[in-house]
Formats: sequence, structure tokens, C-alpha cells
Amino acid sequence: MNPKITNWNGQRVWVIGASSGIGAETARSLLRKGAKVALSARNENALQQVAGESTEAIVMPLDITDVSIVLQARDELLKCWGGIDLVLVVAGSYQKMRADEFNLKVAKQMVDININGVLNCLDAVLPTLLEQGRGGIGIVSSIAGLSGLPQALIYGSTKAALINLCESLYLDLHPRGIGVYLINPGFVSTPLTAKNDFTMPALISVEQAVREIMRGIERGEFHIHFPKRFTNWLRLLRLLPYRVYFFLIHKVTGL
Ligand SMILES: NC(=O)c1ccc[n+]([C@@H]2O[C@H](COP(=O)([O-])OP(=O)(O)OC[C@H]3O[C@@H](n4cnc5c(N)ncnc54)[C@H](OP(=O)(O)O)[C@@H]3O)[C@@H](O)[C@H]2O)c1
Repeated sequence: MNPKITNWNGQRVWVIGASSGIGAETARSLLRKGAKVALSARNENALQQVAGESTEAIVMPLDITDVSIVLQARDELLKCWGGIDLVLVVAGSYQKMRADEFNLKVAKQMVDININGVLNCLDAVLPTLLEQGRGGIGIVSSIAGLSGLPQALIYGSTKAALINLCESLYLDLHPRGIGVYLINPGFVSTPLTAKNDFTMPALISVEQAVREIMRGIERGEFHIHFPKRFTNWLRLLRLLPYRVYFFLIHKVTGL
């Protein structure tokens, strides 16, 4: 559905959210495969550690909620590279929430990072991608965005917005020669999920997750979701009538 990437050597990839977890491991994997990688997130020390000794890594600290800093980073990157082949927006925030513990401040923080932050990144990179008429953008949403789940009152809604956003982006950008990758992980062992106090079904390592992401992009897939033994169940549940869906989710989660 997207152009395939058969050789990462020299590909210019901007990973936003590269200081930890899935983004950090993706950046490491890209560097190992010979790509030039710009690493962004707020924690500059952590970004430096991910970059290590690589001469192909550029560390560009930023907060995605501040559009002026994101635009500035884009300008610096274009000065260095002259173009961008792939942007991966991995940055995200998760706070467990249920209706009886609704917290507006925390809810708005999640919306600001998970939705507005992604829009800031789009504002920065879309003109470049459109002008180039090539390249791609991948956005990390979550399989939790497919349908409502307990504990994910706001997180799930922000990720649902990203799924819809990627679908529309694909319709607009595919005919213009630009790749769009919707990345929907299930549970991955990272600092983000370390705070979960429940048993996470089909939990996978961050290395496994990144192998799936890299393979999906290399094959040119639009919907990159994993692990399939978990994500396919949720995709199936989503097709059921609500009465059955809610019954099964209550029964399985006990919530
Ligand atoms: N782990 C899972 O099971 C799972 C499942 C589905 C989806 N996801 C999604 O995968 C993505 C990565 O999550 P992860 O599990 O790897 O979590 P993580 O280890 O907590 O990493 C989150 C990344 O986002 C960055 N970030 C957060 N707020 C930011 C901001 N305002 N500006 C710039 N960067 C920011 C963090 O860097 P700084 O703190 O340095 O800014 C960090 O690099 C998220 O979008 C998450 O929703 C994760």
C-alpha cells in the first residue's frame, strides 16, 4: 500500500519520541541499518545515549507541544539533510483513567501530547513531504484506539483520533507519492506500560515491537499492528454488535 523500503542505507529518518521505549529502540535499529537518524524528545541526555557514538545521528531535543520549537527543528534538519525520507512520530503519553477518577488536567495533557503534538509535527513536515512528492510519515497510535476499553478513558480516545487521522492522511497523500504508516502496537514492555498494575495480555519486548515496525515499513504496509494474536482479536471484537462487545470486554477484563 506504500512504497517499499528495501535499503535503509543513507535514508534520512526523523524519529520524534526517540528518548525511550519504542522510539529509542527504533532509532537504534535504524542506525544499525545505516540510516541517518534525527532523534527528538524532551530528554536530551537520554537522546545522546541512544545516539551513542554514531556519526549518522543528530540529536534535536524538543517538546512536541511547542509548535515553534518543532518548526525550528525541521528547519535545522532541512539545512543539514536537504530533505526528509521518513518521519516517525512515536511520542505519546499514557495515564490510566476511568470515569470515576476523571481528571481534566491529566486528560488535557494527554490530548496535548497525543493529538496536538502530532498535529504540530504534521504542520512541520507536510509541506516538505508534499514539495518532495516522496517520503513518508508513520504515526504510532495504539490498538487501544480501535474501540473503547476500560482504564483507557482518554488515552484510547486520543489514539482513536490518530487512527482516523492516518486513514485520511493516506487518502490524501498516497496519490501524491507519499507513504503513510499507521502503527498500532498491543502491549509492549516499556516505561509507559511499567506502571500498569494488571496482567497485560500478549505483552511483547520492545525489540520484538521494533522488528514488527521495521518489517511493516519495509514491506510498505499501511496498518502495522502487532502482536497479531492480540490485535486480531481486538479487530474482530470491534466488528461485533455493541451489546456483545461490552459483555465480552466486561467478562474478559473483570472491569
Ligand atoms: N508500550 C506500549 O504497550 C504501547 C502500546 C501501544 C501504543 N504505544 C505508543 O507507543 C508510543 C511510544 O510509547 P512507549 O511505550 O515507547 O513509551 P515511553 O517509553 O514512555 O516513550 C514515550 C516517548 O515519547 C516522548 N514524549 C512524551 N511526551 C513528549 C513531548 N511532549 N515532546 C516530545 N516527546 C515526548 C518521550 O520522551 P521525553 O519524555 O524525553 O520527552 C519518549 O521518548 C506512544 O505513542 C504510546 O502511546 C505504546
